[in-house]
Amino acid sequence: MCGIVGVVSNPSAKDIVLTGLQRLEYRGYDSAGIATLNSSGSIELRRAVGKLQALVTETETNPLQSATTGIGHTRWATHGAPTTANAHPHIGHMGKHKLAVVHNGIIENYQELRAELGQLGATFHSQTDTETIPYVIATALERSAETLPQAVHAATQKFRGSFAFVVMQEDQPDVLTGTRRGAPLCVGVGEGANYLASDPLALAGLTSKFIFLEDDDIATITPKGVSILDGKGKPVDRPVKVLDLTTDLAGKNGFKHFMLKEIHEQPAVVSRLLQSYTNPVDLSPVLPLQGLNLAGITHINIIACGTAYYASLIGKHYIEQFARIPVNVEVASEFRYRNPPYQKGGLFIAVSQSGETADTLAALEHAKAAGQNILVFTNVTTSSMARAADAVVDLMAGREIAVASTKAFMAMSVALGLFALQLAGAKGQAAAEILEASRALRTLPAFLSSQIATTKPLEELTEKLLETGSMLYLGRGSLAPIAFEGALKIKEIAYIHAEAYASGEMKHGPIALVDKSLPVVNLATSTDGLFEKTVSNLKEVEARHGQIILVTDAEGIAKLDSASRDKMHLITVPTVPAFIAPMVFTVPLQLLAYLTATAKGTDVDQPRNLAKSVTVE
Ligand code: G6P
Repeated sequence: MCGIVGVVSNPSAKDIVLTGLQRLEYRGYDSAGIATLNSSGSIELRRAVGKLQALVTETETNPLQSATTGIGHTRWATHGAPTTANAHPHIGHMGKHKLAVVHNGIIENYQELRAELGQLGATFHSQTDTETIPYVIATALERSAETLPQAVHAATQKFRGSFAFVVMQEDQPDVLTGTRRGAPLCVGVGEGANYLASDPLALAGLTSKFIFLEDDDIATITPKGVSILDGKGKPVDRPVKVLDLTTDLAGKNGFKHFMLKEIHEQPAVVSRLLQSYTNPVDLSPVLPLQGLNLAGITHINIIACGTAYYASLIGKHYIEQFARIPVNVEVASEFRYRNPPYQKGGLFIAVSQSGETADTLAALEHAKAAGQNILVFTNVTTSSMARAADAVVDLMAGREIAVASTKAFMAMSVALGLFALQLAGAKGQAAAEILEASRALRTLPAFLSSQIATTKPLEELTEKLLETGSMLYLGRGSLAPIAFEGALKIKEIAYIHAEAYASGEMKHGPIALVDKSLPVVNLATSTDGLFEKTVSNLKEVEARHGQIILVTDAEGIAKLDSASRDKMHLITVPTVPAFIAPMVFTVPLQLLAYLTATAKGTDVDQPRNLAKSVTVE
C-alpha cells in the first residue's frame, strides 16, 4: 500500500527519497511522486504513473534543483484513478502559506472539507481526499496557528478516518512535520539529518534509530533533532528503538523472485520458531505468554485478513482439538462492525504479518476497549498491533517482500500450533498427545525441504493450466484452510479465478460448475481419518468429468482404484502426522501458483492491484 519517505538536512535529499521509495515498492502501488524544497525555498514537484522507474525518468528529464529537504510517496489508488494529477505529493495554499503533503490512509470527510475549502478559495486539481490536507493546514496557519505543528494539530481535529502524513512548507527549509492516526509513521533519528517514513525499511542504511509514533503524535524533524507533541498538543518523549535492518536489505539471493526465495526459506523459519519457542529437553512449547492467564481462558476470537485469516482457521483446528476451547475465527472487516458481544475470560488473538492491517488493528482496539486480553502473532514486533498487545508472538519469518505471503503463512500456522499445545498443557489436557504433536513439528523442516525440491509434477501441471479460466480447490478438516489459501495464491499471482470449498460443501453449489474443463484440486491426507470421505467427493467430480488434481501421500494413492488413479493428475506429498499435514500440503500449492504465474509472465512479486500491507479499510 502507500509509502511515505521524508528527509531534512541531507544534501542528497532527492536520492534518499527515491531510494526509500524503491525500498517501499514491495508494498504495492500504482504511481509515485517527490517534492523537494530548493535553495531558494520553492517547492518543486515531480510525479509519474506506474513503476518507480517512471518517476526516476521524470526526474532525469526534468531535473530537480539541489535540495536538502524532500518528501516522497508511492500511491495505491483509493480515491481517484492512478493518474499523475492524483499522485502525491499534493500542494495546497492559503494566503502566504504553501504546503506539500504525502499521505497514507483515507480522510473520510473529504467531501465536506472540499466544499468548505472551496468557499475559502481552494482550487482542487485531483480527485483525492489527500488534497484537502494541505489546504486545511494552510488555513489553520493563515488563521491562528503560529507554527506548523500547531497547524497540523488543529487540522487533525477536523479529519475523520485513518492517516499518516508528512507536510513540507515553502520557505521553511529543513523542517518536516508528520502525524498519524491508525496508519504507521516513524521517525528515523540520524546524525545531523533526520527522517520520517511509513516503514523503517525505507531508511535502512541511513540510521538504525527509530521512534515509532503513537496515534495523534505530531513529530517535527529539523537538523537539530526531533520534537514530538502528543494528541493533546503537549510535548512528549517517545522511546528510541534500535533496529538492525541489514538482513532486510538482502536481495533475492540468486532466486528469480522474492516469492520463490521466501518459499525456500520456510524450513529455516520453522526451525527458528521451534528453536526459540520449544524446550529442547521435553519439546514443550514456551511461547512468551507471561502477560496472559492461560488457565483462565474460556473462549477465543481469532481475527485476521487475507492469508493470515486462513492460517487462523488452522489455528482454530489446533486449539479446539488440543486445548478443547471454543474458537471463533473471523475476518477483521466483519468483526469490527458487528459490535460483537464479549464475555469474561475471552482471549482476542490478532494474526497479522505486518501488524498494521487497518481492519485487524481496529478490531483489536475494539476488543481491547471491551477489556479482552490481547495476544498478537506478528512478523513485526514494532508494529501498532504488537504495541497494543498484552502478549506478542514474534513470527520470526524475516522480512517478507513478495506481496503473496508464503513464509509468514507458514510461520503463523506453526506458531498457532505451538500456542494450541501450550494452552492445552496449561489446561491440563493429555500430555501424551501434546508430546506426539511436538515431536511431529520437529520433523516439519525436513519434510518442507523435500517438498520444496519436488517441482517436476507441478511443472507438468502448469502447462495445462495456462489457458484455464477457473479452478476449484477442495479440502477437509485442517486441509480446508489450505484449499482456501491455495485458491487465494493462484488468484493473486496467476490471475486465475479459483474458488475453494470444504470438500463436503462441494455438492451444495460448486458442483454445478464441474465439467471437463474445470481443474479441481483436492487435498487429502491418509493420516487424519477423513481420506475415504474425500474420495467420495472425488468420485462426484469424476462422475461429472472434472479434471482431478489430487494432492495426497503414498498411502492415499494406494487406496485409490487404478481406473480413477489413471485419470487424475497426482501430486505426491510425504506421509506425515495429521498435525503437520496442513503445512506440508501448503508447499505444492504455493509452487503451483508460482510456476503458473511465471509461465504466464505475470508480475509475481508485485501482482496487479494488490498491496502487501493494507492500511486502509
Ligand atoms: C494483504 C496482503 C496479504 C495479507 C493480508 C493481511 O491483502 O496482500 O498477503 O495476507 O493483507 O495482511 P497482514 O499483514 O495483516 O497479515
